[in-house]
Parts: sequence; C-alpha cells; structure tokens
Amino acid sequence: MRNEEIIETNREYWNKHADQWFGTTALPKYGVRFPTEDDLHLFGDVNGTKMLEMCCGSGHSLLYNAAKGAGELWGIDLSQSQLDNAAKLLGDNGYSAKLICAKMEEDIDVPKSYFDYVYSIYGIGWTTDLQGTFDKIASYLKKDGIFIFSWHHTLYYCIAWSCDERQNILIDDKLVMTKSYLDESYFKMPVDDSEIVLCNRKISTYINALAKAGFVVEQFVEESDTDSEEAADKTDLKTRKAEMLPISFCIKARKL
Ligand SMILES: C[S@@+](CC[C@H](N)C(=O)[O-])C[C@H]1O[C@@H](n2cnc3c(N)ncnc32)[C@H](O)[C@@H]1O
Repeated sequence: MRNEEIIETNREYWNKHADQWFGTTALPKYGVRFPTEDDLHLFGDVNGTKMLEMCCGSGHSLLYNAAKGAGELWGIDLSQSQLDNAAKLLGDNGYSAKLICAKMEEDIDVPKSYFDYVYSIYGIGWTTDLQGTFDKIASYLKKDGIFIFSWHHTLYYCIAWSCDERQNILIDDKLVMTKSYLDESYFKMPVDDSEIVLCNRKISTYINALAKAGFVVEQFVEESDTDSEEAADKTDLKTRKAEMLPISFCIKARKL
C-alpha cells in the first residue's frame, strides 16, 4: 500500500469515528493500564510555555495543558472532525488553540525553533514516515525543547493470549508470540465497520530515529499500572497481560 493510501484510509476512519473516541486517549493518561502524567510529571512546569500537540484529536490534552497555564497552544491533526470537536471543547471551556488540519508527515506552516514542548498521546505511531516526522518535530522545537510521546508498546501486538480475547475465553492459560517483533510491515486492522492501517515498529526504530533527528532521550517509561481503575478486575485478560508486559510506552526527549 502506498503511504498516501494508508493516510487516506486512516483519515476516513478518524473522520467517521471522531465522536466515539472523544477524550479517550488524552492527558493526564498516556495509555491504558499505564502511569499517568500525575504519576510521572514528565512535563514539569508548563506555565506560559508554547506547546504543539501532534495528532491532537478531540483536544482534551490541549485542554489539560491550558488548565495548567500553558501560554500558547497549537494542534495538528489529519481529521477535520477531530479538530471540530477540539475547537468546540476548548471554546466551551474558555480557551483557544491554533488548530491545523494536516498530515504530520508534510511540511506544515508552523514556526520553526519556536515551541518549548511538542507532544503526542497515541498519535506518533500513525506516521508513515517516522524519521521525517521526528526531523520536522525537531525543527519546530527550540534548542532544549521537550518532545514527549506515548504509543502502543511493540510487544503488545506480538504477544497474545491463546484465546478469544474479545470474548474473554481462554483456550489455555498462556501468552504466545503471534507476530514477529522484527516485522515492521504495514497491516490492515478492521475496527468497527471500517479499517485502519498501522505498522508495529521496533523500540530501537524509535530510539534511533530520535537520535538521528538530534534528540537525547531523558526518560523511557515502559511500565504497567495494574492498580488503576480500569485494571480493578484482576481476572480481566488485558489486566493480566499488563501484569506481564507493558501495553504502552512513553518517551521524553530533549532537542540538543
Ligand atoms: C488515537 S487518536 C489520539 C488523539 C488524541 N490524543 C486525543 O486525545 O484525541 C490518533 C489521532 O491521530 C490522528 N492522525 C492519524 N494519522 C495522522 C497523520 N498521518 N497525521 C496527523 N494526524 C494523524 C487521527 O486523526 C487521530 O485524531
């Protein structure tokens, strides 16, 4: 599949399903069954800072940072429906942001060497050009600016219960490797009545691309929070899986 086709398939999904995901993957959460920003404090004091969110979706993370006193908010997303929801959410709460409908892979009309923070919650992994996206993010940041992002942990898609996870019925009580950790090819995934296209990049692919773009990694978080509300049911298969491997990861990097 060509990159443009992948992006258009994903855009169609997000335009159609924006309302369904309203506020589900946003700060203070970095992911499900994962420590939150309230636990990790990766951002520190954001008062008066200039912030850009890549793949800002419904705008809940922008709202979170606005409430913490961020000085200037920008958001980029592929889906106009998501941005419409974000504009309304921010407006209803007395805030505003510069919202741009664009692909993160393209040259976007945002100022260079300008932002104190660029961040993305479950957004970066959608890119069809990881190195190009990290290079662009580095260009938007000031020297010493911070880039924080979270995404599915690569192992999550490689390891599964030998069971029907959706019906919570175990075939036997084992986690098994169902996909190569080394396979970074794109795959189609049916979701609801549509489909999305993703790939599962190795952790080293992220780290090496960050280094090449001029970042130094300050913190790499790969943990599970099995005390969280969503993990209350200790027999739930996703909770039991999270007790054995991280479902998400989060990286804090500084532009050199
Ligand atoms: C899982 S959502 C996360 C959004 C956000 N954290 C929120 O709270 O709504 C992923 C977002 O990435 C956007 N997206 C997907 N591919 C993209 C691309 N190539 N460029 C820019 N945005 C993209 C989608 O439109 C969607 O809003």
